[in-house]
Amino acid sequence: MASPAPSTDAALLAQGLNPHPVHLTYPAIAPLSAMARLGRKLFNDPELSGSRRVSCATCHDPAYAYGPSGAESVVMSGGDMHTPGVRAVPSLGYLYRQPSFSIVPDPSGDNDARATLDQQVQQAAAHARVLKIASAPQAASANLVPQGGLFWDGRANTLQQQANGPLYNPAEMAARGPAEVATHLGQAAYAQAFRALFGPSIFVNQVRLIDEAMFAIARYQVEDSGFHRFTSKFDAWLAGRARLTPAEARGYLAFNDTKKGNCAACHLDKPTRDGLPPLFTDYQYEALGVPRNVAIPANRDAAYYDLGLCGPYRADLRHQTQYCGMFLTPSLRNTATRKVYFHNGRFHSLDEVLDWYVNRDLVPERFYPRNAAGAVVKYDDLPPQYRANVDTTDAPFDRKPGDAPALTRADIHDVIAFLGTLNDGYATKATLAAAPDARP
Ligand code: HEC
Ligand code: HEC
Repeated sequence: MASPAPSTDAALLAQGLNPHPVHLTYPAIAPLSAMARLGRKLFNDPELSGSRRVSCATCHDPAYAYGPSGAESVVMSGGDMHTPGVRAVPSLGYLYRQPSFSIVPDPSGDNDARATLDQQVQQAAAHARVLKIASAPQAASANLVPQGGLFWDGRANTLQQQANGPLYNPAEMAARGPAEVATHLGQAAYAQAFRALFGPSIFVNQVRLIDEAMFAIARYQVEDSGFHRFTSKFDAWLAGRARLTPAEARGYLAFNDTKKGNCAACHLDKPTRDGLPPLFTDYQYEALGVPRNVAIPANRDAAYYDLGLCGPYRADLRHQTQYCGMFLTPSLRNTATRKVYFHNGRFHSLDEVLDWYVNRDLVPERFYPRNAAGAVVKYDDLPPQYRANVDTTDAPFDRKPGDAPALTRADIHDVIAFLGTLNDGYATKATLAAAPDARP
């Protein structure tokens, strides 16, 4: 039999096929440990909250990739259910590889030996920032820039450390204090699980009890494959088991094209060198200058600004004003299921997000208000002295008035089609595990 005509990578890509199917290392699927099963109960227990009506799952809805089910920019919650949040609810999906917060990557991987944040800031100050390019995103990974951590500002390092935050946050679960939480845990239907796991003395020490509860919630998020399903069409495509539609394939190319979207420069879409599936984030921070959102009640105070890395919700980088306005680059897996985008929830559809991405500096008057003198106030969610921190060098943010937008309307349509392939639920794990023998 004659071998098929040689076809180039580009030709295969144009047909929606993956020219180089790969076998990747996915997190093992095993039954949940007793600790993680307890964590699942805690995650879903509204009795932990001050109002007794809010659980972790209320805001981090499993049906929406553990992100918000609604379109509100920020969620109303707290003890009275009327306390507004200050930031959009992020997805809890795909956090299993989130590194700890740092500014200087630590080559030894040994967190204990790491310089203090202040020392890291000093080191970083001596280095020029590397331009972020989709075709060589690993160059940027050597950047001495803030990276890793949880929350939009990276202020927590571990899921365990993190879970304490929402528990007592007045705008989230608003538990009244450790004593109240401990009393509830002692009376809960799952109290026996605590005794079985930690011994009967667990209820004597409140601090340890709550610590273990938070550890259990963290174990649940790490062990339960629901938090990192890897069942998207894109995962199937990576394995050579799915064919992208023409629009999805064009969108994939625009996503990677350094002259167009350049999205993959920050939202990494290639498997890692050690064969782990891409998570569509480089774990780094950027100031994009998202417009101020009047729907956030805190923003009624003109003097209030959410500056991300430099506060007000973390204090340790307050004086590093070069980081003001920077927020964590989120994963784009399942992003098409969201109805609220960016740290301040300013946009409500991918079309709005991409329209702003490519027109931010071309027609700013469409996104930003005018001041008393009639001038457009670009990057109005930052005080004037920090507006220079906004990224105007990495494509697609490098366009100047008069330039053509980085993406045409048709390109935007295609990129959105591609982002839809990142939603879980397309393939089963079994399909993906099978050898990439026959192309679809
Ligand atoms: C009222 C809504 C609400 C509730 C309830 C809530 N969260 Fe969150 N969660 C948020 C918001 C908003 C953020 C982002 C806050 C920020 O960045 O400052 C967040 C952030 C997180 C993050 C960081 C995610 C990331 O991408 O960095 C984790 C993990 C998390 N929450 C877990 C939990 C757990 C566990 C519980 C229950 C103990 C919980 N949350 C309860 C609203 C909520
Ligand atoms: C220079 C790095 C960079 C590039 C390039 C980039 N992004 Fe982002 N992206 C970010 C950061 C940082 C955020 C969060 C910003 C914030 O909330 O203030 C973000 C947020 C998003 C969000 C919102 C996700 C959520 O959960 O709220 C979407 C969608 C998105 N980007 C898609 C894209 C697409 C599509 C492209 C290419 C056209 C792209 N990005 C290019 C850094 C980048």
